[in-house]
Amino acid sequence: MEFSIKSGNPEKLRTDCLVLGVFEGRKLTDTAKHIDTLADKAISQVLKSGDMEGKLGSTLVMHQVQNVTASRVLLVGLGKATEYTERHLRQAVRAAVKALPKGVQSVGFTLTEVAIKKSDIASKVAHLVETVVDATYVVNAVKEKKPEDHPLEKVTIQVEKTEQASAEQAVKDGQSIAKGVRLTKDLGNLPPNICTPTYLGEQAKKLAKDYGFKVEVLDKGQIEKLGMGSFLGVAQGSLEPPKLIVLQHNKGKKNQKPVALVGKGITFDTGGISLKPGSDMDEMKYDMCGAASVLGTFKAIGELDLPLNVVGIIPTCDNMPSGNALKPGDVLTSMSGQTIEVLNTDAEGRLILCDALTYAERFEPSAVVDIATLTGACVIALGHHPSGLFSNNDDLAKELLDAGEKSHDRAWRMPMWEEYQSQLDSNFADMANIGGRAGGSITAACFLSRFAKKFDWAHLDIAGTAWKSGKEKGGTGRPVALLTTFLMQRAKQAK
Ligand code: BES
Ligand code: MN
Ligand code: ZN
Repeated sequence: MEFSIKSGNPEKLRTDCLVLGVFEGRKLTDTAKHIDTLADKAISQVLKSGDMEGKLGSTLVMHQVQNVTASRVLLVGLGKATEYTERHLRQAVRAAVKALPKGVQSVGFTLTEVAIKKSDIASKVAHLVETVVDATYVVNAVKEKKPEDHPLEKVTIQVEKTEQASAEQAVKDGQSIAKGVRLTKDLGNLPPNICTPTYLGEQAKKLAKDYGFKVEVLDKGQIEKLGMGSFLGVAQGSLEPPKLIVLQHNKGKKNQKPVALVGKGITFDTGGISLKPGSDMDEMKYDMCGAASVLGTFKAIGELDLPLNVVGIIPTCDNMPSGNALKPGDVLTSMSGQTIEVLNTDAEGRLILCDALTYAERFEPSAVVDIATLTGACVIALGHHPSGLFSNNDDLAKELLDAGEKSHDRAWRMPMWEEYQSQLDSNFADMANIGGRAGGSITAACFLSRFAKKFDWAHLDIAGTAWKSGKEKGGTGRPVALLTTFLMQRAKQAK
C-alpha cells in the first residue's frame, strides 16, 4: 500500500473516495463544511434526512458530489466532539476502511485535521497509517488459491502545508511499525506444522539478510553446551529440534549497552504430560507470539534504521507429550545453576524463558524485556485489553507503560511483591515451576524474576492480547507497537 501526504484543496483530490468527518449532532468538521458549501449543501441535506447522526464509527457513502473530484464521499461518525481522542480517530479510520465500497482502490483522508489534546500531526498520521494497514490485513490462509490482497492501493492524507514535513516522517514511522505488526500476525497465524522452531530460525535469518542484523541460530548441541537444562527439558518431548535464535541490531554507539528482547517461542503448547483439554487447543499455535513480536519489532527497527543497540533472544520449541517428555516431579538444572521441580509440564514458558534470561546476561544489557503468552491467569486478571506488565524497576515499568499509551498498545502493571515468592517453594529443588491458582500470572513473573536479578527487567504477559478468538480468530501483532515505540524513545534519549 502506498501512502502520500497532500496539502492542496481537498475537493480537487483525485481519489476514488474522500473521507470526511461528522461529529455527533450532525456537526461537520472544517473540511466537511468546506466541501458542503461547494456541493450546494448536499452533505447537510443528507444528514438532515436522518441518515446519519455522527455516532462514532457510523458511515455513509455519497456518490457524485458536486464540485468534488473524488468519485465518492464517505462520511464517518467521529462521536462527541468534546470527547474526541486518538482512540476515537483510530476507531473512525477503521470504520471508514471497513465501509469502503469494493471498487475503491484509492482513498483520501481528512480526519487528522481535528485537533486532539496531547496529540500532534505526527502522532495522528502515524496512528492513521497503522490503523489502515491493520484494517486491510488479509489472513495468510493456506489455500489452494492464494488469498487476494485488499483492493485498497493508495492512501492520501490531507494536512496543512505547515504540517507536511512532520506528516511525511510520521508516514514512515507508522509504516515501519505496521510492517512489523504484519509480520507478527503472519507468523502467529501460520499453522504449527509450518511454523516450527526451524522455520522461525529461517525467518530470523531472512530478516538479518534484509536489514543487516547479526544472527545466530543455535541448535540442540549448542544449547546443550550452554547448559540450558530447563529449556531442553521442555524441548525433549518433541521430534521437532529446538532452536535458540539470537539477533543483533547494532546501530547505536559502540559502547552503548543494548536493550534485550526475549520472546517465548513455543510453536505448539499441548501442555505436555499435563495435557491441556481438547477444546480450542488449536489456539496454542499462538504460543510463539512473544517470539513473533520480537521478530516483528526487529523488522520495524530495521525499517526505521533505529540508532540503538538491540538484541533479540528467542528460545523456541514444541511442548509435546511423548515417551521422552518431561514428567511432573522431574527436576531440571537451569543454566543459572538453580534447580526446578516441574510440578506441571504445562507451565513450560517460564522453563524456556529462564535460560534465555540467563543467556541475556552476556550482553550486559541496559534493560531486558521478555514477551510471553505466559498464563491463562493473566487473561482472567486483565481480560483482553492490556498486556500484563511486571518489572523489577519502576523507571523501566513507566517507560513501557508510557510507550503503551502512546502507541495505543497498552499494558497494565501488576504487583510482584516479595510475599508471593514463597508460593514457589519446593521440597525437592530450589523452586517449583508453579505457584498454585492464586495470582497465577504473578507467581509466573516471580519465577522469571529469579533469573533476572542482574539487570533491569520487565515481563509482558501477552496471553490476553496476542491473538483474538472466535469469528475473528487471528494474531493481533501486539505488542510490536509498544515495543517499537519504547525503543524509539530510548534512541531519542541516547542522542
Ligand atoms: N501458553 C499457556 C498460557 C495460555 C493459556 C495463554 C491460554 C493463553 C491462553 C501456558 O504455557 C500455560 O499453559 N500456562 C498454564 C500455567 C499453569 C499450569 C500454572 C496456565 O495458564 O494454565
Ligand atoms: Mn503451557
Ligand atoms: Zn505455553
